[in-house]
Amino acid sequence: MADKEWKNQLTQILERLSALEEKYDGMGQDMLSYLDGLYYSNGLTYWEYIHLESLLGLQVPRTPFQDEIIFITYHQITELMFKLIKLEIDNLTQDKGEKSEYHDVNNWHKRIQRVINYFKHLCNSFDIMLTGMDREEMRKFRMALLPASGFQSVQFRHIEIMSTRLVNLITGIDPDPEDHSIEAVYPEIYWKKGGIDLETHKKTITLRQFEKRYDESLIDQIEKFENRNLEFLYQNASDSIKNDEKLIELLKDFDQHINVYWKLSHLAAASRHLVKGGKDIDATGGTNWKSFLPPKFQKIIFYPSLWTEEEKENWGKAGVTKYFQQAITQQWMK
Ligand code: HEM
Repeated sequence: MADKEWKNQLTQILERLSALEEKYDGMGQDMLSYLDGLYYSNGLTYWEYIHLESLLGLQVPRTPFQDEIIFITYHQITELMFKLIKLEIDNLTQDKGEKSEYHDVNNWHKRIQRVINYFKHLCNSFDIMLTGMDREEMRKFRMALLPASGFQSVQFRHIEIMSTRLVNLITGIDPDPEDHSIEAVYPEIYWKKGGIDLETHKKTITLRQFEKRYDESLIDQIEKFENRNLEFLYQNASDSIKNDEKLIELLKDFDQHINVYWKLSHLAAASRHLVKGGKDIDATGGTNWKSFLPPKFQKIIFYPSLWTEEEKENWGKAGVTKYFQQAITQQWMK
């Protein structure tokens, strides 16, 4: 190596060493020991970095049916996407005083666009559930997971709580506009109402299991996000942020992707697998899925102030054209 190059290389090495020294000094640690560690350690491999063997060991079918592994893996993929969606909302909404990301509209653009990207991916990939599994196999292996259901996806509930005020997660008429306390509203939340068996009027075992496992932590999260959810922060933002047209479009796009498009993709899968010879098959989670799942019945709207009365009235119908139409034209709904 030429002298000049070598001197340059040496300067860079020394700069890094002094930065390392400062770092370890700050930790009260001896840099040389760490350099020894670096010297003796094996280089990192891809399979170690992403814990490949652990990851591929997590798909454990309960039946001998081949396609069950597709069902498990796609739920896991969705949960990993939900984790990334929560990360974006968490970063945007964290209170760091003046440094809080939500003070800058560009951060809203960046984070909400990423959230929409994840949901677009989930909506477009739902074909894996729709046409990517053998229907007869699905109808058999799903019996082995009773009474479990995606209804028990706690991360999906987290995303709802982080994105809007609790009162927007009630279907239909607000039982008591005077009392929007967590104690009054939480029992009215749409999925708790959906988890009631229509014949016995009792909570399904799927809902009871879920409440036993998560009610306490969900209430903690509701308290944590009461003044930190996206809708609250948007409503209390400066006028320049609130009136930002790009942000308004992004929030509306997010609202439709999670509460209409994804729900319709999911409903198409349920309709494909849970209707046989024109008859509905009972859901593993015990809801009356045909009246619970359609977004036009749930009417969950995260940002009601951004939609006209007519748009809210037709909620979940418009989306039909985009996702459901494909299902009908491609005959996989028959
Ligand atoms: C063939 C595929 C699928 C079928 C047939 C199906 C069926 C159902 C049914 C019938 C329900 C209503 C609750 C019940 O009574 O069980 C439900 C709810 C739910 N499922 Fe699925 N599901 C499928 C795939 C998925 C996937 C891949 C996910 C991803 C995590 C998922 C997440 C959910 C969620 C979050 C709910 C609650 C929805 C809401 O509250 O509006 N499902 N599913």
